[in-house]
Amino acid sequence: MPANSPFPYDFTWGAATASYQIEGAAHEDGRGESVWDRFSATPGKVRNGDSGEVACGFYHRYRDDIALMKELGLDAFRFSIAWPRIVPAGRGAVNQAGLDFYDRLVDELLAQDLEPFATLFHWDTPQALEDAGGWPVRATAEAFREYAAVVVQRLGDRVRFWTTHNEPWVHAWIGHAWGEHAPGRTSEADAVAAAHHLLLSHGWAAEEIRREVPDAEVGITLNLTHAYAASDSPEDEAAAWRVDGEGNRWLLDPIFRGSYPADLLDRNELVAPLVEEGDLQTIAAPIDFLGVNYYFRFVVSGGADGPQMERIANAQETDMGWEVYPDGLYQLLMRVSRDYAPPAIYVTENGAAFGDVRVHDGRVHDPERTAYIASHIEAVSRAVAEGAPVRGYFVWSLLDNFEWAHGYSKRFGIVYIDYPTLERVPKDSFYWYRDYIASARQAPRPSSVA
Ligand code: FCB
Repeated sequence: MPANSPFPYDFTWGAATASYQIEGAAHEDGRGESVWDRFSATPGKVRNGDSGEVACGFYHRYRDDIALMKELGLDAFRFSIAWPRIVPAGRGAVNQAGLDFYDRLVDELLAQDLEPFATLFHWDTPQALEDAGGWPVRATAEAFREYAAVVVQRLGDRVRFWTTHNEPWVHAWIGHAWGEHAPGRTSEADAVAAAHHLLLSHGWAAEEIRREVPDAEVGITLNLTHAYAASDSPEDEAAAWRVDGEGNRWLLDPIFRGSYPADLLDRNELVAPLVEEGDLQTIAAPIDFLGVNYYFRFVVSGGADGPQMERIANAQETDMGWEVYPDGLYQLLMRVSRDYAPPAIYVTENGAAFGDVRVHDGRVHDPERTAYIASHIEAVSRAVAEGAPVRGYFVWSLLDNFEWAHGYSKRFGIVYIDYPTLERVPKDSFYWYRDYIASARQAPRPSSVA
């Protein structure tokens, strides 16, 4: 801990989760089927046949988990709302019992002095909408707008911080082009269409939020990955720029500049017929903050078959096979601040999976995770010191949870879940984060030093 904390007093310390990954209660209180229920039930799609049916049981245990957040000393909790709990058939009838759950959750957070950061969509589309064409069709964006309006009407008197979408790139490409996430499609055209409609629905949802919540802070969360060229050869530089375009600029440019990056010709051909008059203005309406999720970097070389991702010899990797590279977060925050000038940035996810075990003392010792989080917070502090408008940091994740196609095999939590019993066991990284937050608040500020 630096003697002078670079973090301002009102810096937000948080933890993040997502509905399908933690809630369970998949068939309770009128919840409809989501694409992740269907995908998980399809043999061969999710490791070990796991699903979010029970997950962490957060739906019933949220009070205990909020007590853990309190023990951590968090300022804020980032969670997502399950669309199929609210509008089980995707459009039409609203399920009051689903709204009631988030109502209780928000009230309990506020009662414990925790700021709710609500995300409207973290990939659990109602299956009925997928059956009607899914995100590749424009009607799904319209349905999302209706759903957003319902949610903000109910929670907008208490929730100020709203994120429309989580990682539209991942949902569009991994879910629609690579087939590795729900809904499991394998078409580049579907991915491009899904991404456009996700962005469009972001703009529409932002309008609904602003209408209902005049002092709302509205943002969108992107997974951004700094792309480094493997060498300074023109081929490697061009390949890194291409990867940056596909993963970063394809979302950042429409949101902040109102246009798709012109250098990605094949994608422009696919998206052009879908872009209607006014879409890009809707997408580019000013936001209050950008959410940045960061886990690793890319090192890219050029080749005859297009850009290649290089694996760095002897680099430390997490259980996901992701390189540990904190400086990539610093570089990314500086670059996004310089090139896109968002009014504020929240690091809405950052963390690491390791093969944790609960040992004979009953505890979970996870020094690698602590080192990962500490080094990435240090990277954030450098960006803050150099003027990047970062206002908060959310660790991914509060709890071990359903890690999508990896099922329960990857543990990202600072709290261990014993899945057979759902017992919560704070890991060593939990106590480290608690102590870090406390000391960051106490440290003298540079401005207060004469
Ligand atoms: C992000 C997702 C989150 C979690 C982490 C590890 O891409 O937003 O749900 O799976 O990765």
